Amino acid sequence: MKVQIINGPNLNLLGVREKSIYGNLSFETYFEDLQNCYPQLELTYYQSNIEGEIINKLHEVGFSYDGIVINAGAYTHTSIAIADAIAAINTPVIEVHISNVHKREAFRHVSMLAANCKGVIAGFGMGSYRLALESFLIN
Ligand code: DQA
Repeated sequence: MKVQIINGPNLNLLGVREKSIYGNLSFETYFEDLQNCYPQLELTYYQSNIEGEIINKLHEVGFSYDGIVINAGAYTHTSIAIADAIAAINTPVIEVHISNVHKREAFRHVSMLAANCKGVIAGFGMGSYRLALESFLIN
């Protein structure tokens, strides 16, 4: 099973950025843990701060991969273009968030993407990514 993880803007700063919300771990370190935990999955990781690059990656993998896990960061709350890209592809997409966005500012309660995703996981720290991968294994 091929699964692409996509992180959006500012998530390259995990482990450095707002540690009280997002924790101490860089995604690169966590990604190694994920690869060790899920040897049965072919995992690839991509991060971009640029909306169009995220859309290009969705187009690139979205007709051949078995699953996509996306944390679109703040684009979650604003990007109709990413929502349209998710609707356009065949691969099922899981939206994830490290923090529980529903406990935070009102603008984070809205997701442009969620209605086009298979499901949404939020609030479990980096474990949100793991739960998303589990969802591909149980279905
Ligand atoms: C986030 C939540 C978003 O509101 C925020 O803009 C992020 C990270 C999360 O993983 O909790 O960049 O997606």
